[in-house]
Amino acid sequence: MPIRSILAGTGAYLPSRVVSNDELARTVDTSDAWIQERTGIRQRHFAAPHETAAFMGTEAARAALAAAGATAADVDGIILATSTPDQAFPATALRVQAALGVTHGFGFDIAAACAGFIYGLSVADNMIRAGGAKGVLVIGSEVYSRILNWQDRGTCVLFGDGAGAVFLRAGEGSGSDRGILSTHIHAQGTLGDILYVDGAVGQHDKPGTLVMNGREVFRHAVTRLAESVEEALAANGLGHRDVDWLVPHQANRRIIDAMGRKLGLPPERVVVTVDRHANTSAASVPLALAEAIGDGRIRPGSLVLLEALGGGLAWGSALVRL
Ligand code: COA
Repeated sequence: MPIRSILAGTGAYLPSRVVSNDELARTVDTSDAWIQERTGIRQRHFAAPHETAAFMGTEAARAALAAAGATAADVDGIILATSTPDQAFPATALRVQAALGVTHGFGFDIAAACAGFIYGLSVADNMIRAGGAKGVLVIGSEVYSRILNWQDRGTCVLFGDGAGAVFLRAGEGSGSDRGILSTHIHAQGTLGDILYVDGAVGQHDKPGTLVMNGREVFRHAVTRLAESVEEALAANGLGHRDVDWLVPHQANRRIIDAMGRKLGLPPERVVVTVDRHANTSAASVPLALAEAIGDGRIRPGSLVLLEALGGGLAWGSALVRL
C-alpha cells in the first residue's frame, strides 16, 4: 500500500473580539445591508495586539495535535501559510515550533495568500508520500486587520483574523483510501496586480495595505476554482456525486454558492463560515474544516473537496477522505 497523509486532527483559533458590520459602519462609509447582500458577511473577528500569526497559529496547532492524540515529539515539520507574519524572519512557523516545544524537524512559511493552506497541504502531502516526514502540522494564520486600508470600503469590510491547523500523519491507505487523495496547485503571476499588498519590509519602511480589483478577482475565482475542482475529481476518477462535502475558501458567499451549484451539491453539504469569520485568507479553509469536523457534520469516511484562490494569483484544490 502506498503511504497516504491521514488528516489526523484539526484545530482552530479565533480572537475573542467580534466586530459586526454595524460597528464598521460607524467609521467606514458602508452599511450592514450592503455588506450582507454583496458578500454574505455579518461579522468578523479582529486580533488584539498579542494575537499575532504565531500566537494564533500556535493555539490552532495545539488543538489539532490534541484532536490527533499527538504530542510535540510526533511533529517532524511545521508548514505555516500566512501573508501577515510576525517578523520577516525567523519564519512564523519556527516561532510556533518553539512555542509548541518541538525541538527537531523543519519549519517554514508559505506566501500564497488565500491559497496558502492548500499550497501547504500539497507540500506536506508530497513530503509525507515521499517518506521525508511522518507527522506534519499545516497551519494557516492571518491578521489581515493589520494590512487593511480603512479608507477603502471596497476591501476593508471583507476580511477577518484567525488561524486553523491540521496535523497530517503518514499512514497506510488500509484499503479504505483514507487520507489526502490528491492536491493540485496553480499560479499565474501575470495577474499579480488585481490583488496585492502595496508594500513590504523590503520596501523603504512601507508595510503596505491590501489593494484589490474585486470584479476581476471575482471573475477569475469562479473560473479557476471550477477548473481546479474538476481537475481534482478527474485525477481520482471521481464525479460530482462522490463528493460529500465542499469546504471552500471563504471570501464571498456568492462565489461559494456558485461553486456548490457547479458541483450539484445541496447547500447543506457546503461548509460556510464567511458569514461569521469574513475572509481570513490562508486560515479560512482550515477554520471551516475544523468547525465542520468539530461539530460532527463531516464524519470519518466522508470525501471532502477543499479549494481556494487568492493573490498571486494562486489557487488550488485538494481531495481528502476523512
Ligand atoms: N459599502 C457600500 N458600498 C460599497 C462598498 C461598501 N463596503 N464597497 C463598494 N461599494 C460601492 C462601490 O463604491 C460601487 O458604488 P458605485 O456604483 O456608486 O461606484 C458599488 O458599491 C459597486 O461596487 P463594486 O466593487 O462594483 O461591487 P461588486 O458587486 O463587485 O462587489 C465585492 C464588490 C468586493 C464584494 C466583489 O467584487 C467581490 O466579492 N469580489 C471578489 C473578492 C474576493 O473574493 N476577494 C478575495 C479573494 S481571496
